[in-house]
Amino acid sequence: MPGNFAPFEAKMRADGLSDAAVAAFKNAYDALTSGATGMIPESELTPASGVPKLVDVEAPEADAQLLAKTVVLKLNGGLGTSMGLDYAKSLLKVKGADTFLDLTAKQIMQMRDDLQTNVKFVLMNSFATSADTMAFFREKYPALYADPNLEFVQNKVPKIRRDNFEPALWPTKPSVEWCPPGHGDLYAALLGSGTLDSMLAQGSKYLFVSNSDNLGATLDPKLLSYFAQSKAPFMMECCERTSNDKKGGHLASRGGQLILREAAQCPDEDEDAFQDISKHRYFNTNNLWIDLEALKAIMTAHGGVVPLPMIKNKKTVDPKDDASTPVFQLETAMGAAIECFKGATAIVVPRTRFAPVKKCNDLLLLRSDAYACVNSVPVLAEGVTAAPSVSLDSKKYKLVQQLEANLIGGSAPSLKSCSSLTVKGDVRLSSKNVFVGSVTIKNESDEPKTLPPGRYENTTIDLTAAPG
Ligand code: UTP
Repeated sequence: MPGNFAPFEAKMRADGLSDAAVAAFKNAYDALTSGATGMIPESELTPASGVPKLVDVEAPEADAQLLAKTVVLKLNGGLGTSMGLDYAKSLLKVKGADTFLDLTAKQIMQMRDDLQTNVKFVLMNSFATSADTMAFFREKYPALYADPNLEFVQNKVPKIRRDNFEPALWPTKPSVEWCPPGHGDLYAALLGSGTLDSMLAQGSKYLFVSNSDNLGATLDPKLLSYFAQSKAPFMMECCERTSNDKKGGHLASRGGQLILREAAQCPDEDEDAFQDISKHRYFNTNNLWIDLEALKAIMTAHGGVVPLPMIKNKKTVDPKDDASTPVFQLETAMGAAIECFKGATAIVVPRTRFAPVKKCNDLLLLRSDAYACVNSVPVLAEGVTAAPSVSLDSKKYKLVQQLEANLIGGSAPSLKSCSSLTVKGDVRLSSKNVFVGSVTIKNESDEPKTLPPGRYENTTIDLTAAPG
């Protein structure tokens, strides 16, 4: 069905959105209305091969000159809705009183001190995260807040009616007519806000981007100098897929160009190949290195956009009302840009550089004594050789609020000698619980039950009949 973009353009312009935002949304809208499936069949791909490993590559440590041309950018537009948050996930406490943003700010300030170089630091916020995040920096990190380029704010895009591809209208609550465009909006937001041009004007060349909830994504001087030496326009940090990662997207090569294939882009008949981790060995960590001059050139050549593949989500216009108008929400993903940069490359990095917090399991682990902070980077505590696997009840520990209510006194149990912790049902834990080896705690009753203080070693404890 041919769509009519004019009302979308009018709506976006009336809201003050930039040319770059309109062009990026048009690119996605045209893909939707052209009926393109976006499928990437296995027959078009060859596995990504010869991807170098960071541990094997030779590169000198980056010098002050290189660091002075580098910008560290954290994606901070998301709300962590899957963990029940309605504010920036990065403002969540992860280690003692420190939030993700405290640790990131401290890493940057320490690096500036150690290397006597003004490594630039920028946040991509969204209309939902900007105010809280900037208030946080104003109060706690005035030296970083003083930089007028500390943040730029990403765009919002209109929702599209599924029946006629027109803008969805909801006059009783107009704010729900808009949605976030995903982190692929990075490129349009950089250009449209003037940030890309001002970075170039200040002599910046190398952009290191990562998720604000990934504290493993530090600015590694060896990676920086390797990227600079490679002269590649774009470099993706990848990790080796394990059986736990087989359902997620993978890197591949199409006609000699690296691309990403996400699950939604794989035809059903190619599912086995998609999940074959010995064939498609690498996944995207979302830690990206981008040559800013190459980015500007690509956007200029494509009418102000990076032509990213579009991701289509089916929702209702008011997320709280299932009976409201059915809509499409279009998104793009930042890493998919690898296919747009001719000569883009990838590097395999240790799994420690990929440590996003997606669930309460990850948060409990980070907050526990299994992790310590060294130079504001969480690392396994002394004597801990592998992170314990933590599996908390998916209903009772889904939201951060539930995790916090279930930790008496607010502190995590001891996990430094634990290999695996499984919690089934409504169980309350405290810092007076010490887990050793493999421990399972269960409560099959409907009432919450508290695990008494003590040391629990290679055991299963059933609290079903215990007093509440
Ligand atoms: P994700 O959307 O993968 O994860 O964003 P999330 O933050 O866990 O969000 P929920 O739970 O799905 O809501 C990965 C990174 O990209 C940023 C997020 O802040 C996070 O750092 N992001 C995501 C943006 O900056 N803008 C977006 O539109 C979407």
